[in-house]
Amino acid sequence: MNWTAGYNSSIAYTTSYCHEQSPSFLNACLVMQRVSPLSVDKFSYCELGFGQGLTSLILAATHPNGDFYACDFNPLHVLAAESVRNEAGLPNLTLLENDFGELAQGMVELPQFDYITMHGIISWVTDETRAQIMQFLRRYLKPGGVVQVSYNVMTGCAQILPLQRLLKMGAKQGGDAWTNASALAKKLASADALHFRRNPDSLTRINDFNAMDERYLVHEYLQETWRPFYFADIAREMSEAKLTFAGSASFSHMLPAEWLTDAQRELVDGIHDPIEAEELRDYCANRAFRRDIFVRGKALLSDSRLREQAEHIYVWGNMSVAYKPVVEVEHAVVTRGDEFHQLLFALLRRSEMTLAQIFNAPEFAGLSLDAILKLVRLSIAVGETSVRYGAAQPREMAERLNAVLLSRVERGEVWNALASPRLGGGAGVGTLDQLLLASLHEKTDRTKALTRDASELVARIKRSLAATGLRLRIANAQVPDEQIETRVGHILADSGKKLIAHSEELGFWISQKTAGR
Ligand SMILES: C[S@@+](CC[C@H](N)C(=O)[O-])C[C@H]1O[C@@H](n2cnc3c(N)ncnc32)[C@H](O)[C@@H]1O
Repeated sequence: MNWTAGYNSSIAYTTSYCHEQSPSFLNACLVMQRVSPLSVDKFSYCELGFGQGLTSLILAATHPNGDFYACDFNPLHVLAAESVRNEAGLPNLTLLENDFGELAQGMVELPQFDYITMHGIISWVTDETRAQIMQFLRRYLKPGGVVQVSYNVMTGCAQILPLQRLLKMGAKQGGDAWTNASALAKKLASADALHFRRNPDSLTRINDFNAMDERYLVHEYLQETWRPFYFADIAREMSEAKLTFAGSASFSHMLPAEWLTDAQRELVDGIHDPIEAEELRDYCANRAFRRDIFVRGKALLSDSRLREQAEHIYVWGNMSVAYKPVVEVEHAVVTRGDEFHQLLFALLRRSEMTLAQIFNAPEFAGLSLDAILKLVRLSIAVGETSVRYGAAQPREMAERLNAVLLSRVERGEVWNALASPRLGGGAGVGTLDQLLLASLHEKTDRTKALTRDASELVARIKRSLAATGLRLRIANAQVPDEQIETRVGHILADSGKKLIAHSEELGFWISQKTAGR
């Protein structure tokens, strides 16, 4: 076997950012599940399998106190991430072109880590590679250290296994692998193969292919290994590395789950082993993907320790989201019957608060800490509220990184998130919005520039669109070349102020009012 150990490296991976890997976010998740977090004053961090590196770049830029390491065996990935890191000047990020086995065997000198994270890794590598990862965790995670791991889950993915096999069969037929793979699956589904009628989730995946990034699809389906796991099996492997399940990195799945029906709750509550109970919940949600947090030594927070930690949790309302009494939480719909949800919503719209201030707010007098945690968790799960652990960090590195990402997007590279010191991580931003931001970036008064320099901004965005090859689409129709200037002008006039406000709110830029002081 060559250096890829069965991993498909024919196409470089997409440039996604994964917020669940943020130390500030992971700490918030732990506290909101009453588990003691690590200090983020000074810490060491390692990402395994970084793809194009956007997550580690953004995390290093938004956590100047952290000492970041990231590893990927694909030299193309290392080159891409190194070039952004060097241009943005991020001294706290070390990029390693090594495979997990080399690291696990101690072939590279490394510190002990507080955080080790991996997104999109363990379901796509061989058993041998997964064993190397477990060995790495055993060897390099500090006591009290935190591991974030995401993976495909058997309950929701069992139907997809035959589709994956079919795609690999199609890919072998020569020519472009993904074109042939998807063509075979589509043809079989159109020929009314009974398999797809009886397994509708599999058919839905085929129907979604056209709308997805081919680089993602190749990595998702054309791996030698594509393996969904049962939660209890992963928890057992982790326990061999002295790791205990600490909870979810998804606010929708924190306990007690809001979406269980009464009958489901009664059934799950009757299971005494917490690992088996968690696996049962995967059946209730037909869960296809898990985002788990494990810790090396799980210390629970008493009420008084929770109150102390609550001083470090910052929450604020997202201005673009309106309050709804009936909300969707991943697969389920939850009705918010009591008034407290709306009181919290109103409170967080007014200003950023710490969780400790919410605990003490007169609006919630008489509610237990757990009842308040439940309100806040649901509000975060539905996207009304954002959360960060720890005071906002110095922003210079984040600003440098954002300037580099924006200028590269103008030259046709795809980096679909920007660094947000306020979030302690990144936020997704589409290419068109990034081009608008890039055109405004160097302006001393961006709001005034929207009108004063409108024609210059439009010309720059038009040039960038041509350079990136991006086709401007509005209401699902492609805008003809001769209308691009007018349409971009309308977009800037309609949305420019909102985009500037959003960028200042998340800290992509220093607010010009603050900067001017
Ligand atoms: C599915 S991608 C996920 C990338 C990134 N975490 C993300 O979510 O954007 C898996 C990554 O792991 C890397 N990888 C796979 N097997 C590896 C190994 N044995 N050692 C080091 N890197 C590996 C691949 O090159 C690829 O970049």
